[in-house]
Amino acid sequence: MSAGLIKHLKEKTEQDPNTKILMSQWEFDEKLLGKSLENVGSYYPHFSSHNESHSQQILVNIERLLGDNISKLTATDTWLILEAAYWHDIGMLFSADDVQEVVNNEEFKDYVEELANNNAQDLHEFAKVWHNEGWEVALVSYDNPYKGVEKYRQMVAEWYRRDHPQNSQQVVLKPFEKLNISSPRTELLPQRIYRYLAQICLSHGKSFNYVMSELPFRQTGMGTENCHPRFVACMLRLGDLFDIDDNRFCPVMARQVGNMPSLSETHKHKHQAIREFQLDNETVSVTAICDTEMSYIECRRWFDWIKEEIQDQMSQWKNIVPSRDFGLLPTINKLDVEMADSKVLLNNKPMKFSLDEHSAIELLQGKNLYDDESNIYRELIQNAIDATYIRAWIEFGKGSTKQKLNQQSNPYSKEFLDIVKDFPISISFTKEESETDSDYAIWKFSISDKGTGISLKDLEYMQQIAGSSKNIQRKKIINSMPVALRPSGTFGIGLHSAFLLIEDNEGIYNKINIETKSIFDNSSYNIEMTSPISSNQGYCFIKKTDSNTHRDFGTTISLHIKVKRRGKRFNSNLLFNPSYERKYVFDIQNSYDSLKHPIFDYLSIILKIGAIRDNIINNTPVPININDKFDNSESITNCKTELIWDDQYNLFFGIRNCEKINFLKNPSYYFSNLFKGQEVQPIIGYYLLPVFVDFYAFDAKEALQLDRNKWRQEFTNSLFNSGYFDDLLKHLLNNYLDFIRSQLNNDNYLSAILSLFDNIEYPSSLKDLWTELPFFDEDESKFSSDLSNTLSFNEILNLSKVNIIEVKSKNSPRYISFDSNQNISTLVTTSFNVNEIWSRKLIESWYENSGVVEVRKIEGSTEYYFKKVPDNSNNLIVLFCEDYLKGEGSRMSLSKSSLKDAGLSNYLKLCCSSKAHYNIFGKTNSSLKNELLLFPFTKFVVDKKTYISTHNLDILIDSVYEDLRHKNDALDRKEINESYRSLITLIDDKMSTNEEWTEARKLGENFKPKDILTLREEYGF
Ligand SMILES: Nc1ncnc2c1ncn2[C@@H]1O[C@H](COP(=O)(O)OP(=O)(O)OP(=O)(O)O)[C@@H](O)[C@H]1O
Ligand SMILES: [Mg+2]
Repeated sequence: MSAGLIKHLKEKTEQDPNTKILMSQWEFDEKLLGKSLENVGSYYPHFSSHNESHSQQILVNIERLLGDNISKLTATDTWLILEAAYWHDIGMLFSADDVQEVVNNEEFKDYVEELANNNAQDLHEFAKVWHNEGWEVALVSYDNPYKGVEKYRQMVAEWYRRDHPQNSQQVVLKPFEKLNISSPRTELLPQRIYRYLAQICLSHGKSFNYVMSELPFRQTGMGTENCHPRFVACMLRLGDLFDIDDNRFCPVMARQVGNMPSLSETHKHKHQAIREFQLDNETVSVTAICDTEMSYIECRRWFDWIKEEIQDQMSQWKNIVPSRDFGLLPTINKLDVEMADSKVLLNNKPMKFSLDEHSAIELLQGKNLYDDESNIYRELIQNAIDATYIRAWIEFGKGSTKQKLNQQSNPYSKEFLDIVKDFPISISFTKEESETDSDYAIWKFSISDKGTGISLKDLEYMQQIAGSSKNIQRKKIINSMPVALRPSGTFGIGLHSAFLLIEDNEGIYNKINIETKSIFDNSSYNIEMTSPISSNQGYCFIKKTDSNTHRDFGTTISLHIKVKRRGKRFNSNLLFNPSYERKYVFDIQNSYDSLKHPIFDYLSIILKIGAIRDNIINNTPVPININDKFDNSESITNCKTELIWDDQYNLFFGIRNCEKINFLKNPSYYFSNLFKGQEVQPIIGYYLLPVFVDFYAFDAKEALQLDRNKWRQEFTNSLFNSGYFDDLLKHLLNNYLDFIRSQLNNDNYLSAILSLFDNIEYPSSLKDLWTELPFFDEDESKFSSDLSNTLSFNEILNLSKVNIIEVKSKNSPRYISFDSNQNISTLVTTSFNVNEIWSRKLIESWYENSGVVEVRKIEGSTEYYFKKVPDNSNNLIVLFCEDYLKGEGSRMSLSKSSLKDAGLSNYLKLCCSSKAHYNIFGKTNSSLKNELLLFPFTKFVVDKKTYISTHNLDILIDSVYEDLRHKNDALDRKEINESYRSLITLIDDKMSTNEEWTEARKLGENFKPKDILTLREEYGF
């Protein structure tokens, strides 16, 4: 009991008759309010007690805080303290009238909607039904009416609790009107004093700044006294915060609530956690030892409030305290929160995914980045592989006592394979719950590795998305590793994507479990990660389990997935692209009766296993098994024999066997590529060798899109622009020709590939072999009877004319109706396509051998009329000019080799990389790696008319002259000038029969190009 304050009020009021009324009012209110407060429990049985005992506890706390200073309080201040302790929570009560009306209140409706939208709330489900279908449905949507009523009570209670400080203020001013509390309001005690009391009650739910700005420091009290509303408000706040003890939860009342809302449960644990509590006017010490993580979080939050409130008040104390001789507030000795048993904290806080995490995961959901579930399994498997690589390096890398690896080691080098064979990864799918009444079964997926394990430090970084790039210790190790052995993960998102697998799970299944022992801190932990998109908001609970010291390093991650088990069948398009598993699943489905035991979940899991086996674990040197049944040992052995590791480019490559190809064909068909052992969609436009490449040189963040399925366009563009692929292919052909030859097993074909490259040395026996290969795929072509169907490249060139009809498919009417006897020198085929390398090569060679090709589109097909010109000369420049006329670019240029092919070797001396070249192509353009001839024409297109002009010829000549002079001092500008002018004449001559060209040239000579000045003026640049 707050004997001290009451005694003091008594003494003071006895000394000064002007204040006597305060004592009478208090005696009245104490009894009246004590009784009223009892009712709080009827609506809030799930809450900590807010009855009279709470008020009394507050008063005791204030007495402790004040110590002997109580004697310095005026009667009015003392009265205000006593009354405030009793009135401040009165607003949690509400009248029957009120509560009946509230259902129609717009703000209340908003409140219900808010609860409905917040799935972290206990009342979420109830509120959702209420909001969508009305309270009538909500109340009866449980298997027992009691539960509906209970939810209703909690919802209304929460509504009033939220605003209770405001309500208390109102009740203080009009107790009878609001709640039938017959506390007398007479003129003996001025209304003004009640207003202070009301303000004090209101301010217990407001910020400290509010207290300082809205509550007066000193006012006239009763009689000759002063009163100090701000001071009283501060005392109430502290007294309230320090109501810490564990007797606040009334077990009798709690029993009345069937299912205690989780937040109340946590608050209860919070109160129960207090082990040490000492409070007087000198010091404060509180220790809490929490059993549950949630109560830890609540305690922390609560202690932080206490700390903040004391600090705030201290900093303004002289503007709060009635007089200086009150001294100071007590200092904080300790406010400690600990975890019972061996639970571990990160920087004194439980691990928790941040808000960012939440939005990031939602982003992943929204963007459907992980719409294919296999991608998520791949992330977890990739993490296990990454950890295994790092461990291998820590234990056997440079600087280790057992060094076996060096900077030249690669994932398939013998020494590495020897190490990782002892660090296998196991994956398992097991059925967890079966005979439920649900359409779903719960399966457990788990993956165990013998990698580095996860340390406390790692966890700190793991809780943030993209955190792993900040993990310095880990990064340091990775940077010391040979490029080829560095782990693939860099985004710091993979693990988090696993929350998408469990997003529909409820309760205990809505979390990911990790059991790990770390090589970094040599400790074992059990970690429970709750999903940031669930009601547990991403809290992670970590338990140290050091008893497990014999355990090897590594990590087991497990999670549960919900799999549909009945009422479903796979339809036959599953067999559209049949794999072993697809056929298996289909066979079972078609020979099984689900009447007794539905098995759809088994079949789904079998397909998952198949996808993981075929697409994910096949290209890694780390042994991986699934359910101890399947493993990747065969592919590891195959990799060793079929692949070559190239040190310079840090990649594996293999060559497809092309034995069966007996006609010229675009080899890109055979291209496939991996990034550190995981399949990525092929890089578009990368062809020439039927090659399989596993790239280890790149960083995933630069090279891949977030889901790791596709290359980033910018990245591959930059590789193309820098000539990376051309260089790579040349490098492979130059260095591994024998290997490539043996793998391809088709010399004709290899000869064809080699013919596309300059500067590669190869046996002369391979030269020109390809020209004997049939050009067209016999199965895709029909020939007129005068052409035999084995036409080779050379044979075609020697024809005097031929018409090639290109069709999209053999179903096309042109193909079907083709009559070999009716046509002459004609063939119809699907295997001709001008964008494809060999078709283009044929056209170029045809022009080179005094030919021209006319193109016509007829009935959905394209016809190419190959003809010869009479003068029997090299006509290739005509093709280049035709391309230039049709193409996008405004300038034409040719490489040295094209010039030679076109018989224009006379003009090789004009090839260079002048400033004019740079202005057209940009300095970093890979085509400028070799010198080019920049042609003297510019093409303008205005209103669909084409103009070809030579207007900047002199500038071009200057620029070329400038550049070439560096190599040859004696060079005369005149020479360049003459060369260019003769080139113009030559081309105009060659093109004289092309009307488009002659027209464009005529128009071009009078064309006035735009100049930069007009543009600048127009926009004020
Ligand atoms: N099996 C594991 N063993 C050891 N550490 C792991 C394991 N799985 C995850 N981790 C740790 O968790 C971190 C985060 O993993 P996550 O997959 O989210 O990101 P990442 O692998 O760095 O990048 P990415 O998103 O590209 O995969 C890793 O960097 C690593 O420190
Ligand atoms: Mg990863």
